[in-house]
Amino acid sequence: MKKVILTGIRPTGNLHLGHLFGAAQNWLKLQDSEYDFYLEIADVQALTDNYNDPDKVHRNVFELATDLLSLGIDPKKTNIFIQSEIGEIAELTVFYSNLVTMARLYRNPTVKTEIAQKKALFGTTGESVTYGFVGYPVSQAADITAFEGELVPVGEDQLPLIEQCREIVKKFNSIYGETLKMPEPYLSETPRIKGLDGNDKMGKSLGNAIYIVDDEETIKKKIMGAVTDTNKIKKDDPANPEKCMVYYYHKLIKNDNLETVCKECKKGTRGCVQCKKELIEKMNEFLKPIREKKEYLRNHPEEVEEILKSGTEKAKEKASKTLKDVKSAMKINYFE
Ligand code: TRP
Repeated sequence: MKKVILTGIRPTGNLHLGHLFGAAQNWLKLQDSEYDFYLEIADVQALTDNYNDPDKVHRNVFELATDLLSLGIDPKKTNIFIQSEIGEIAELTVFYSNLVTMARLYRNPTVKTEIAQKKALFGTTGESVTYGFVGYPVSQAADITAFEGELVPVGEDQLPLIEQCREIVKKFNSIYGETLKMPEPYLSETPRIKGLDGNDKMGKSLGNAIYIVDDEETIKKKIMGAVTDTNKIKKDDPANPEKCMVYYYHKLIKNDNLETVCKECKKGTRGCVQCKKELIEKMNEFLKPIREKKEYLRNHPEEVEEILKSGTEKAKEKASKTLKDVKSAMKINYFE
């Protein structure tokens, strides 16, 4: 049987260049590998901290699926599926929850960081952190093991969650007998993509992202406001392209004119406005095929739905087999 690679993404917003040049590069490669590739739209996980905004999560499931397909995820090679449709994941979560202590969950660095961020953002206290949120690593362990995921492509921030999953697998197998597959993290080699403001990370909450669905007017506004070398005051001052986000994006989208951009910037023969205008044009060119695919899918929502349906069906088949094995190992298979 083919080995499984599984990863997930929360449907909480549109994809941006950080995804496109980061995680998605990895996924595009993996869908052409010899593995069976499952890509989960983690709506249940998104609800752990968006439970009071079901409309947002619902909308974003389809929006995210459309974004993924637009940037080249191929449903013939990748099983895209919706987490909440796989009831087996919820069942496994309940069974695994006995194998994890509260203390361990509170110590999980990813959970800890996220709780701290929420406190900083909303001024909430520890008491308002829900059971579901603190427990989401258990649910993520169910995501991974339900499909016998052996390789899990994630960013570094997710490593503690894979570690937690490995502990659950180890404990489960030692108590109930060898049943679950042990997963390994698969770190992407792609670097983090910087934001328009020069921040090391492009992110929705940082307000410094270029989205793949941004229209031409938005792209123009964003690039015009991008951070350049602050030492360059006048149009013909020489500057350091390495300190400029405009140059950074020229490089990222592989502008074929890159050498000239660099040389002219260093010499002071290229003004920032001119340079930004060139980037706007090239960025629009770069995004054009993605926008066109997105536009097509927006006009054919039934195609997206069909893709999600058949990916989910295939995922369900796999998860139900795992659940059967788990229940029999736990001796809760009464009528078999
Ligand atoms: N927690 C991941 C994130 O926030 C998303 C995710 C959900 C995931 N289920 C997963 C990642 C299973 C890997 C495996 O990005």
